[in-house]
Amino acid sequence: MRADLIVGIQWGDEGKGKIVDLLAQKYDAVARYQGGHNAGHTIVVDGKTHALHLIPSGILNPKAINIIGNGVVVSPEALIKEMKQFENLLGRLYVSESAHMILNFHIAIDQAKEKLRGSKAIGTTGRGIGPAYSEKVARQGFRLGELRDIDKLVAKAMEYFEQNRAVFDALGVECQGEMSLRAELEEYAAKLLPFLANTTQMTWKLLDEGKKVLLEGAQGTLLDIDHGTYPFVTSSSTISAGACTGLGINPKDIGHITGIVKAYCTRVGNGPFPTEDFGKDGDILRQNGHEFGTTTGRPRRCGWFDAVACKYASRINGCDTLSIMKLDVLDGFEEIKVCVAYEVDGQEIDYMPVDLENVKPVYKTFKGWEKSVGARTLEELPAEAREYLDFLEKITQTKIGMISTSPDRNDTILL
Ligand code: GDP
Ligand code: IMO
Ligand code: MG
Repeated sequence: MRADLIVGIQWGDEGKGKIVDLLAQKYDAVARYQGGHNAGHTIVVDGKTHALHLIPSGILNPKAINIIGNGVVVSPEALIKEMKQFENLLGRLYVSESAHMILNFHIAIDQAKEKLRGSKAIGTTGRGIGPAYSEKVARQGFRLGELRDIDKLVAKAMEYFEQNRAVFDALGVECQGEMSLRAELEEYAAKLLPFLANTTQMTWKLLDEGKKVLLEGAQGTLLDIDHGTYPFVTSSSTISAGACTGLGINPKDIGHITGIVKAYCTRVGNGPFPTEDFGKDGDILRQNGHEFGTTTGRPRRCGWFDAVACKYASRINGCDTLSIMKLDVLDGFEEIKVCVAYEVDGQEIDYMPVDLENVKPVYKTFKGWEKSVGARTLEELPAEAREYLDFLEKITQTKIGMISTSPDRNDTILL
């Protein structure tokens, strides 16, 4: 059996949570493979809103098991807090013992570095993501499995603080005292050890037994550490390939890949965004789409659909289909624009350059439509909306498999 995969195509917040939740009703397991509680996934079922950060979006299917893979960076504090919303998680939630922890000092370092960057700040979520991944790669990270031996872990942390004291001092970050660190780690151990597992073996077993597994990406392709708009990216492999390292599966284990993409475009934090609209249209998109971050509450930057970036993302992820989200947010616009090429140094290109900073979007304009909100079949969509979608399918060279017309799980057109 192969695992199907959901991946963000833009700069995150595409609506991955809604689709993972919808699909999860038919899956035996949902697994997260990267990112941390920088993610914010909103799910709306029967008028009730659920906000998830670390727990996979399959948790609302009582029969599915949820896996947090080794590629995720886990803040024990954030995870424990999030777990409180749910009952009977034992046997339904498993966390990789190899996943690295985000501890308080990672968060303090993230925030201190952002402050130092001043006007050049990345605009991180301030959740300690970058420092936790950096220390993992530098081979001085702290893994969840180490909670099994608190004495050893505390000694290791104290040694780490000692070796890095100069860095901490320069950043104005305090090294935590032994007593308070021990108390914190003991609490994490008490609450999380029952959930730790060898999630690689677990995922293999599920696949070998013919169980249906859904892989849930966080963030989006354009925030990928290698293939995104570096340095304005997150610190993990957000693309489909990240699922292999982040769970311990191989490329042949992956089946259908669905790219999640909004019918327009948003970004939180800094960095290039060629189709950003600084005028009235951007404001309307923000208002109609409630474009304020689930994690930080920050207003999201808004603009038109970028077909060049979407085609790039579709190729890099190997998307079989796209799921077009928030089509309803475009309702009422007289005209809708799509970026079909970039202008760089007076020349038009139809591919993604490495540096997106100095490109100007070339737009094609479409006639708008009145109402698509709540549509559950293609026939319910206005002709103009269908024309728009047909065009997106052609220019991105990727079939559309789903269309979403409201936050609700059921307001989704399955093709
Ligand atoms: P994720 O990070 O990719 O899971 O996306 P977020 O949850 O951060 O942001 C997507 C937001 O759009 C959430 O508030 C969803 O409830 C909402 N949403 C998802 N699909 C639709 C849709 O088709 N229409 C509208 N209006 N809202 C949607
Ligand atoms: P979901 O899963 C949107 C952005 C931050 C910042 C950059 C680096 O909800 O789609 P980080 O804290 O990761 O070091 O910040 O990445 N970012 C997201 N933007 N959605 C997300 O997750 C994001 N996770 C991180 O705003 O620009
Ligand atoms: Mg989000």
